[in-house]
This record gives sequence, C-alpha cells and structure tokens, in this order.
Amino acid sequence: MAVEGPVRLALIGLGSIGLAAHLPAMLRSDAVQLVGMADPSRERRAVATTRAPGVPMYTDATALCGAEGVDGVVLATPPWVTTGLAERFLRAEQFVLAEKPIAVSTAEARPLTTLSTERQRRLQVGLTYRHDPALARLREWVRTGPLHGPLLIRAHIYDERLDANDPEHSARVHQTLRHGPPVLHEGAHVFDWLAFLLDGASPRVSDAWSVRTDPDVASPNLNGARLTYECGTTALVEFGWLTCELPRCELTILGQHGYAVLDGFTFRLTLTSDGETKVYDDPADRTERCFDRQLGAFVELVSGRGDRAVPGLPEGLTALELSERIAGAASVFTIPRRERT
Ligand SMILES: NC(=O)c1ccc[n+]([C@@H]2O[C@H](COP(=O)([O-])OP(=O)(O)OC[C@H]3O[C@@H](n4cnc5c(N)ncnc54)[C@H](O)[C@@H]3O)[C@@H](O)[C@H]2O)c1
Repeated sequence: MAVEGPVRLALIGLGSIGLAAHLPAMLRSDAVQLVGMADPSRERRAVATTRAPGVPMYTDATALCGAEGVDGVVLATPPWVTTGLAERFLRAEQFVLAEKPIAVSTAEARPLTTLSTERQRRLQVGLTYRHDPALARLREWVRTGPLHGPLLIRAHIYDERLDANDPEHSARVHQTLRHGPPVLHEGAHVFDWLAFLLDGASPRVSDAWSVRTDPDVASPNLNGARLTYECGTTALVEFGWLTCELPRCELTILGQHGYAVLDGFTFRLTLTSDGETKVYDDPADRTERCFDRQLGAFVELVSGRGDRAVPGLPEGLTALELSERIAGAASVFTIPRRERT
C-alpha cells in the first residue's frame, strides 16, 4: 500500500558527496522528511548541523538501524563501509539508497546477494547519472537512430586531479585507491551507462591495461579496456585519477550516421548527423538535477508507489562484475614495484 505524506529518511555519511549533493537534495524535496544524520567525524557532524539545524545527529549509524520513524537511509559512505551498513539496514526491513560502488568486490558484495528477494528489492544503488535526461536521449538515438548499428564508444573518464593545495582531497583519493583502482569506482557509473544504452548487453573484455604514474599510489591510477559486444559495438574505456593534469572527460559515440559527444562533467550533449550539429544543454546544474531525480526514484520505492529499485542491486552487481574483470585482466600487465625504475 502506498504511504501518504513525506517519507522519513536519514543521511549516513556526511563527507564530500553527502554534504555537497545528497543533503541539499533531501532538503529541497517536499517528499522527504530528514529524520537523522550520522557520521563518526565530529567536524563533519558540525558542518551538517549548520546546514540542517535541529535534525537528530548520531555518531554511530547503527543507532538508526530498525529505529521507529526511519523508513529508509541514504548511505553516502565509502564503499568498504557501505556494504555492511546496507546489509544491516535491509535486515532491519528499512529501505536503502547506497552510494556506488555497492562493494569493493563481488566477494564483498556476497552478504547482499544472499539476502531474501524482498530485502534486495529495497536497495537502490546510487548510479546517479543514469537518471539524467541526456542518457535517455542518447538511448533513444541508439535505439532508433541516428546512432543505431555497430558503434564505436569511447569513454574517457578523468577526474580527481592532484592538487598540491588540497592535501585532504589527495589523502581521500589515496585511501580510496587502497580499495581498488579507478575502474572500480568510476567504472560503476560508466558500465551502468553502457548497459543502459545497449539494453543490458554484456561485453567481452578483449584487452585491458593499467598504468601507475605515481609509485606511491596503492593501485594503478590509470586503467582502461577494450570491450567487445556481440552486436558489433566496441567500447574503449579509460579511467584516470590523481595526475597533476587531466585529459578531457567525455563519452563519445560514433556510428555510420551520427556522432554524439557527452561532456563528462556537465552532460552537455551534442549530436552531429546529416552534416548538422545540434547541442542539447540542460540549464539545470547536473549534480542538482541528477540527485533530485535519483532521490525522487527512491521516494517512489519507499512510499510503495514503485515496486522495484531503479537501478537496483542487479545493475550495481553487473557494473561491479565488469569492473572486476577489467581490473583482473589489467593487473596481468602491472609491473611489480620492485621492477620499476
Ligand atoms: N554518485 C556520485 O556522483 C558520487 C560522487 C562522489 C562520490 N560518490 C561515492 O560516494 C561515496 C562517498 O564518497 P565521498 O567522496 O563523499 O567520501 P568522503 O570520504 O568525503 O565521505 C565519506 C563519509 O562517510 C563517513 N563514514 C565513514 N564510515 C562511516 C560509518 N560507519 N557511519 C557513518 N559515516 C561514516 C566518513 O566520516 C565521511 O565523512 C563513495 O562510495 C563514492 O564512490 C558518488
């Protein structure tokens, strides 16, 4: 039965994306009542309190687990923490919107895959940009033209520039690399886009590579792969973090009759076909529009109006599994540290 009135949600993890995107989206929404926030960091809690005064604050997120008056939680925690928290909240029959990747490996994700179907159904994965209208537009072009037929897709995802003036950011990214390469963290989004655009088709990993430009990073900070789809499409994917300069960040799609370019940061979309270039630029900020839409989908799920999380655990696992296959194939070519000059 559908719940009337706002759904009661708590925000767990008050770090970078929690404060910059999830909290503002939750505060903007009339369909959400923010009933709690949690983070072990005192500074983070203090910042969040200034933005959402009067909302009950917790040091330990598990205080919200099974708590009366909490229909669901948004987990904006690091992926090595997210999986265990998601499992606890799902076992307590609460709804969960969990940041991507849902785990740092398919083995780590196992506690979620062994939950009952009913509990799994309550989990939405934060593959945020899948909700952007630009992706829907691209999908339409792939389905009905002008981007139909075998395609060459290139995804160049370069982010997290090394900034000597921001040691906190650098420490956070170094810490994340201890739990897997960029293909794992960024790949979650890109492999979800590819699955969305290509109707769930699963590719073969024909080639994979990795480069460690800084000997002190825990896993290679540049990764890439060549993916081959049965329909004849090839995707060349590249991911990179922590270099002082970054190449462009974009997704391009080339077919016999058209060429599309999606800006990786703004999602400004251009399509060239029949000798003409059209630009599709959404005036709303990409972060705002995507986090609002993502939260809207979660509200539908929690309120009982939606019967399935989109994207849910299956989509999160599919992206994770492909990231893992690429990381595994690429490590074959990684030069052990002692052999590097
Ligand atoms: N969807 C997106 O567009 C997007 C963008 C950036 C990051 N992310 C994802 O969001 C997640 C968080 O990234 P971030 O950059 O905000 O990291 P962050 O390190 O800035 O923030 C994580 C926060 O979680 C808190 N935390 C850790 N353990 C906790 C626990 N047990 N209970 C409650 N809080 C806990 C930390 O103290 C920190 O404040 C990552 O999985 C990342 O991949 C998603």
